[in-house]
Amino acid sequence: MKHLIAPSILAADFMRLREDVELINTSNADWFHLDVMDGRFVPNISFGQFIIKQIKTIAKKPLDVHLMILEPEKYIEQFREAGADVITVHYEACPHIHRTLAQIRETGAQAGVAINPGTPISVLEDVLEEASMVLIMSVNPGFGGQKFIYRTLKKVEQLKERLTVRNLPAKIEIDGGVGLQNAESLLQAGADVLVAGSSVFKADNPMKAIRRLKEIGKGSLLA
Ligand code: DX5
Ligand code: ZN
Repeated sequence: MKHLIAPSILAADFMRLREDVELINTSNADWFHLDVMDGRFVPNISFGQFIIKQIKTIAKKPLDVHLMILEPEKYIEQFREAGADVITVHYEACPHIHRTLAQIRETGAQAGVAINPGTPISVLEDVLEEASMVLIMSVNPGFGGQKFIYRTLKKVEQLKERLTVRNLPAKIEIDGGVGLQNAESLLQAGADVLVAGSSVFKADNPMKAIRRLKEIGKGSLLA
């Protein structure tokens, strides 16, 4: 599969959110990545259903909603109604992860499960069939602009191997500190979806940053 690029709106300029959404619409990006933080599961608060619903009115690409919240099962239907196409919950926030993934699928959204840098992929062994996507956090969640934790590259490789051995279709998404400096290694390790916040929105030319991330592997990185 050709890899997907999911710019993270957390790094956008919220005073000009419409322009940044339009930028993604006209770029080579594939998805919008939307980071929902509750100040409890992670030490930061971002935005919720209301902002996502506004974005949905003009977004021309799927909304990939990453819930960094406790008790996500209470809000899944609301995020689906707000326009989420993919809903990802954290393994660490869900005592009944199997049930929560089923709940997401029942809304019609694709179900994703995320793990923190300190959580091994082995804990997902019994839910890999239930997920359309596994999100591997490559920073500790809560903030954009952090440094990529190198060890997580190994986790992408391990997960890719597990999925291949079991012939399972789940996509692998990698989130945190991703940019041109590590994208190629991540894709080689087996990542399918690259989330990119700062490396897109803090770039001098975000359109070009997205294009370059998208073109990795095509041999056209010099443009
Ligand atoms: C971190 C979020 C990420 C974040 C990535 O908690 O889940 O999606 O926006 O931002 P960068 O790419 O700047 O690390
Ligand atoms: Zn995220």
